[in-house]
Amino acid sequence: MRRSAFLGLGVGALGAVALAPLDRAAAERETLEITLRSAPFRFAPRGTGISFDGLAYEGRIPGPVLRVRHGQRLRVRYVNESGVPSTIHWHGMILPNAMDGVPGVTQPAVPPGGEFLYAFTPTPPGTRWYHDHVDMNLIRGLFGMIVVEDPRDPVPDAEFALVFHDVPSMRSVVAASRGISDAPMDEPEGSREMAEMRPGERMGDEVRYIAHCIDGDLYPYGRVLRVKVGNLVRLRILNASPTVTRYIRLAGHRLRVTHTDGNPLERPVEVDVLRVGTAERLDAWFEVRRPGAWLLQGLGSDALAYQQAVVVATPGMENAAPVAVAESLDDAGEIFDYRSAAGTAHALPVEPVAARRRFTLGGGRYGSGRWTIDGRVWPHVPPLDVRRGERLLVRFENRTDMEHPMHLHGHLFHVVEVGGTPLARPLPKDTALVPANGGTMSWLVTADAPPGRWLLHCHNEIHMMDGMATEMRYIG
Ligand code: C2O
Ligand code: CU
Repeated sequence: MRRSAFLGLGVGALGAVALAPLDRAAAERETLEITLRSAPFRFAPRGTGISFDGLAYEGRIPGPVLRVRHGQRLRVRYVNESGVPSTIHWHGMILPNAMDGVPGVTQPAVPPGGEFLYAFTPTPPGTRWYHDHVDMNLIRGLFGMIVVEDPRDPVPDAEFALVFHDVPSMRSVVAASRGISDAPMDEPEGSREMAEMRPGERMGDEVRYIAHCIDGDLYPYGRVLRVKVGNLVRLRILNASPTVTRYIRLAGHRLRVTHTDGNPLERPVEVDVLRVGTAERLDAWFEVRRPGAWLLQGLGSDALAYQQAVVVATPGMENAAPVAVAESLDDAGEIFDYRSAAGTAHALPVEPVAARRRFTLGGGRYGSGRWTIDGRVWPHVPPLDVRRGERLLVRFENRTDMEHPMHLHGHLFHVVEVGGTPLARPLPKDTALVPANGGTMSWLVTADAPPGRWLLHCHNEIHMMDGMATEMRYIG
C-alpha cells in the first residue's frame, strides 16, 4: 500500500544548523510531502542595522533544511507568493527533466500567485541544495540545503548543516552585471583569487556585500554548535554565495573531507582550510579532543569578513572567548584543492569516449557585461548534443582572468584533469571551478540522465545573467 502523509515543516524539514537524524515516522514514509512558500522578506540579521529587501522560502533566509532518506519520494508543493516569476532547481539531483526547474527550458516560470508540484525521488544521496533559477531570485534569498541521507554513511555523534551566504548590495549587483561595479574582491589575502589579480586591473564585475552570514546569522549573534569531548562531528557545508569562493577554517582543528558536492571521495583527505566555490558543497569531519570554544570561520579580505563565523563549543564553554584564526591565508597550512584531493597522475585514464567537446570561456571585459562560451552568450551558444549512454570528455579552456564554477544540471560528472594535470582518482562533482588565466579542466560525463535539455552554466550569478550558459541536449 502506498502511504503518503502531509508533513508540516517541523518534521520532514528541520531547522537550519543542528541536524538530528530524520525521525522514525518520517523516515518510514514512502513519500514526504512538503509545501514551500516563497514571499517577499525583509532580512534583518541580528546585531546589524541592515534591512535587506529579499525573498524567502517559509519566511527565512536560507530556506529550511530539507531532509529525506535515500529512496524516499518527495513531493514539494511550491506556492509562489514572491510577486515575481519563479522556479525551483534541485541542484545536484538526477531527476526527470521536467522537474529541473529551469524557466523556458524545462518548464514555464511559475507566475506570481501560481503553484507547481515538484515530484521526484531525490538521488544521488548526499548534501545537495535547492534554489530559484529565475533572474536575481537566488541572489535575493531563495535558496536552501537538502540532505539526502545515505544509509551507507557512518553515523556521527553530531551533525550540522551550514549554509554560508552573503548579503549583496543590489545596486552593486546591477553595476556588476553591466561590468562597471567598483566593488573590490572579497576572497582572503593569500588566496589564489588574489594572486591572479594583475596590478592596476579594473574588475567591474565584483559584487559588494553588506553582510556575510552562516544560516542567516552573523558573528557574534549566531547560535553555538554544541559538541562534547570525544565527539566525531560531521559538517555539511554549502557555499550559497552568488559570486565568492569561500575559504573556511575551524580554529584548532584539521578537517577531514569525505564528500565533494555530496558525493563520496574514494579516499578522504585531511586539510587545514576548505576552499568551496560558489554552489559547491563539502562534507568535513572533525574530532573534539579537549574542552574548548573555537570559531568556524569564512575568511575574507573585506572589513566585514569576521562576521561569517560560528562558535563550536563544549559544555560550559559556550560563552568563553573562542579561539580564532587570522583572516589571511598566509601560513594557513594545507588548503583543500582538487589536485590534492584526487591525487595526480601522469596521463589521463585511457577510456573510450564517444565524443570530445571543448568550450572556451571568455568575456568579462570592463564595461562589457558579457561573459561568453565559445564567444557567444546564452541562448546563442551551440549546445552539446549527446545520445543516451554516450561517454563524453568535456574540456574547458578559460581565457578570462577569473575562475568559473561550471555546473551541469542532472548529472554527476568526474573531474579528470585540472590545469593540465591528470587526476589519479577522478573527483565526483556537479560544479567545479575552472582555473583562471588560460586554465583548463576536463570532465568525464556519461549521458545517463533522463532525456531532455540540461543546462550547463557558470554558477557565478553575475556571469550566468551575462550569458555564460549553454545546454546539454539529448538527441535521437
Ligand atoms: Cu545551482 Cu543552474 O544551478
Ligand atoms: Cu563565471
